[in-house]
Amino acid sequence: QKGGYPHFMLKEIYEQPDALRNTITPRIVNSLPDFTEDGIDDDVLRNLENITVVACGTAMHAGIVGKAMIEKELRIPVNVEIASEFRYKEPLINEKTLVIVTSQSGETIDTLEALRLAKRCGSKVLSIVNVKGSTIARESDYVLYTHAGPEIAVASTKAYSVQMAAMYLIGCRIGYVKGIYSEDRAREFIRQLLDVIPVIEETLKQADEVKTVANYIKMAPDAFFIGRGLDYTLSLEGALKLKEISYVHAEAYAAGELKHGTIALITDNVPVIALATQESVYGKMISNIREVKARGAYVILVSMDEEYNDGDVCDKHISIPKQDGLFTVFSAAVILQLIAYYTSDAKGLDVDKPRNLAKSVTVE
Ligand code: M6R
Repeated sequence: QKGGYPHFMLKEIYEQPDALRNTITPRIVNSLPDFTEDGIDDDVLRNLENITVVACGTAMHAGIVGKAMIEKELRIPVNVEIASEFRYKEPLINEKTLVIVTSQSGETIDTLEALRLAKRCGSKVLSIVNVKGSTIARESDYVLYTHAGPEIAVASTKAYSVQMAAMYLIGCRIGYVKGIYSEDRAREFIRQLLDVIPVIEETLKQADEVKTVANYIKMAPDAFFIGRGLDYTLSLEGALKLKEISYVHAEAYAAGELKHGTIALITDNVPVIALATQESVYGKMISNIREVKARGAYVILVSMDEEYNDGDVCDKHISIPKQDGLFTVFSAAVILQLIAYYTSDAKGLDVDKPRNLAKSVTVE
């Protein structure tokens, strides 16, 4: 059942190229995103004025990545809400809001109740769901199924990647039907999204490199994930994954915000996983990394540089293939998943079934 892998989580990490292929390719017609088969009405996408994403945990983190991408590319406001908070609010949504509900299982109770509230507020609900026929899928106006296949490990990996891919597809289609994206731009976007698949295959070859880092992190009580822009949005997921399965306390921080307090926690040997894949803020990011390095941090730098040997910047460099910065979240996510996986395994923990957690959270 584990296909020769020691754990479901590792198997699922390696299934990501297929999961992405199965999710993306059926939605491409004539090199453009197309949701005809999914029955998603273009008018809903064309007429929306803003978007609210509601979800929990990893699915919510995929929404935060989607927000960064859509706001940057389309200049449409996207609000991301934690479902357990949203459901007890008087949310600022209406019939001009497209509510995107994201859930691997399609059964998370807070997310389901958030969906019901969104409908009562008059919003259309488009859900991104992995499990066919689940309650969230059934109650939504539109469903974009992700085709990750069953995810058994409690820690979500391949479901996260395909949720991000679904966000990117939706963003591209919105851009196209609203005329924000030209046909050429939409085609180029799709070409880059498809490129993510071989890039992840390449990234997976770094697993042994990542393993060496895990042997270091396993000794630490705390770790920090830092980045700017899309890298910061991905850091949130890196920290969650590490906490969830390796029980190392981890925090994600926008790199430029560190000096407003948190840098006080950076002392000798504190692991800092620094993502630097965003060209427009690359220089700023490297200076932030120097700041933590100067305070003794053990820095693991993830970037598109082929090599990085400057000991004033990092102790360990993990290289991901070169790509446009809008798409690096996919390959960098794989590195972060492997960091969490190998750290948990090195500590001899039950990787697939971490303590206190269930795969599907159907109670409040
Ligand atoms: O099934 P869902 O996507 O609705 O689940 C949401 C969260 O419970 C889930 O993503 C959780 O955060 C993961 N175990 C994290 O790896």
